Amino acid sequence: MEPIIRLDGAGFRYDHLQERPEAEWALRGVHLQVGSGEYIAVMGPNGSGKSTLAKLLNGLLLPSEGKVWVGGLDTGLEKNHPLIRQKVGMVFQNPDNQIVGTTVKDDVAFGMENLGVPRQEMLKRIDQVLQQVGLRGREASSPHHLSGGQKQRLAIAGVMAMRPEVIIFDEATSMLDPGGRREVLDAITELHRQGTTVIHITHSVKEAFQAERVVVMADGRIEWSGAPHELFHRREKLTRWSLEVPLPLELKERLRRRGLPIRHEITGTEELVESLWKLLSRD
Ligand SMILES: Nc1ncnc2c1ncn2[C@@H]1O[C@H](COP(=O)(O)OP(=O)(O)O)[C@@H](O)[C@H]1O
Ligand SMILES: [Mg+2]
Repeated sequence: MEPIIRLDGAGFRYDHLQERPEAEWALRGVHLQVGSGEYIAVMGPNGSGKSTLAKLLNGLLLPSEGKVWVGGLDTGLEKNHPLIRQKVGMVFQNPDNQIVGTTVKDDVAFGMENLGVPRQEMLKRIDQVLQQVGLRGREASSPHHLSGGQKQRLAIAGVMAMRPEVIIFDEATSMLDPGGRREVLDAITELHRQGTTVIHITHSVKEAFQAERVVVMADGRIEWSGAPHELFHRREKLTRWSLEVPLPLELKERLRRRGLPIRHEITGTEELVESLWKLLSRD
């Protein structure tokens, strides 16, 4: 099956239009394919090219080298942009910068209005997406009165209402408190369950474990890609990639290496304790 996203040697230089030979490449020779419905996490130090990659995926930036395909459409062709922007939605870091409406309802409607969605259909979708992100009943509220997590869920609702095939979260949890993070992560899991392709850019190893595949970027290139638990086979590189491994994950990995039957999927302290407890009570 044709992947929903394909980068063939894609690269980007911010000032390539000025043709300055000394211009730095923000992204260089990236090959990447993302399958329809896949859930990937993108990690890597600041300045490694994660946001640039995200912007190449919805045609906000055009590749300075190579090709970027979204749903079989070449992002290099201007005529494809309206369709590509409908296929790929983005949720950004700062919840306050994403508010566009004076009420929750208007805020969700904004993106659909730009797409020319008929009014009846719009009302139906608003109801549906607010239900999905748990904000139904708040239609008339001012978005500014929502908590950080609620604001991000509102941003997600606005993107979902446009029915994109892919949603990119660019550090969308980084400014939230733990409760807000949980809310947004749950919303992401639900989107994935419903078949949306998810690209989650995050600094959190714990969050990355929720994905099916992790892509690590460094210096504008893809440095490594694999299943989340395989990150531990690269532990000597974790520091270099500025990735800090949370204690329960580290502990789980050590226990597994000692041969204890603990599931890979475990990421939290409570699950780990429960799992150890069950093992102990078997004897
Ligand atoms: N608007 C811009 N103009 C010029 N250089 C930029 C711009 N945005 C990012 N860069 C540079 O491109 C590189 C990659 O940045 P970015 O994609 O934002 O990385 P990340 O999201 O991983 O932190 C960095 O060296 C950064 O300084
Ligand atoms: Mg970034």
